Amino acid sequence: MSNASRSYTATAKWLHWIMATLIIVASIIGIYAASLHYGIDAAHDKEKGSWITIHKQIATITLFLIVVRILWRVTHKPPEFLGMSPLMAKIAHLGHFVLYLLMLAVPISGWANSSAAGYPIPVAWLFTIPGLLAKNPELAPTLSKLHEVLGWTIVVVVLGHIAFAVKHRLIDRDGSMESMLPNRK
Ligand code: HEM
Repeated sequence: MSNASRSYTATAKWLHWIMATLIIVASIIGIYAASLHYGIDAAHDKEKGSWITIHKQIATITLFLIVVRILWRVTHKPPEFLGMSPLMAKIAHLGHFVLYLLMLAVPISGWANSSAAGYPIPVAWLFTIPGLLAKNPELAPTLSKLHEVLGWTIVVVVLGHIAFAVKHRLIDRDGSMESMLPNRK
């Protein structure tokens, strides 16, 4: 196999690391915002609201990047999995497919939740996007629960993904992690 086919393209690497950073930061802020509760006092309510807004400003960027990433993924063949049994390669493919589904479902569920609750959906401190659905206060709690469950699912799957990447680097030493790192000259 040629060296080139053992590495992801530069665009795929940028998309991977930018989205990884945004998803991790958004998750930490989302979990922190959810741990604050409304109704204690006005300052506390304001603080919770500010953290939710920051969470949305950051997380909504992934809605745009995931479209580019899926288009890039379907038009550019990724490197083959190295030194893996066919079964492990199938499991790795499935894991990556689940990650793509979650990278779509988590921000869309957050978008739907804020839309149903009637709140604005800001993007990167630059602009706001319209609601995904009309204001619907009866539906909002269900969508909030859905976003909570999907949000925690992506946290667990990302942690598993990191654990496997570290295993490839430290135990298997098969070059998997290097395929997503900048090329060394
Ligand atoms: C990368 C995408 C996203 C990730 C990884 C993510 C993750 C999370 C997580 C882990 C939580 C905490 C859930 C809990 O414990 O209750 C959360 C809460 C929340 N997220 Fe997201 N989220 C994302 C996108 C969005 C988007 C696009 C919006 C809205 C436009 C949004 C709105 C909210 C709201 C309103 C909460 C609830 C905070 C609260 O309960 O007080 N999220 N998110």
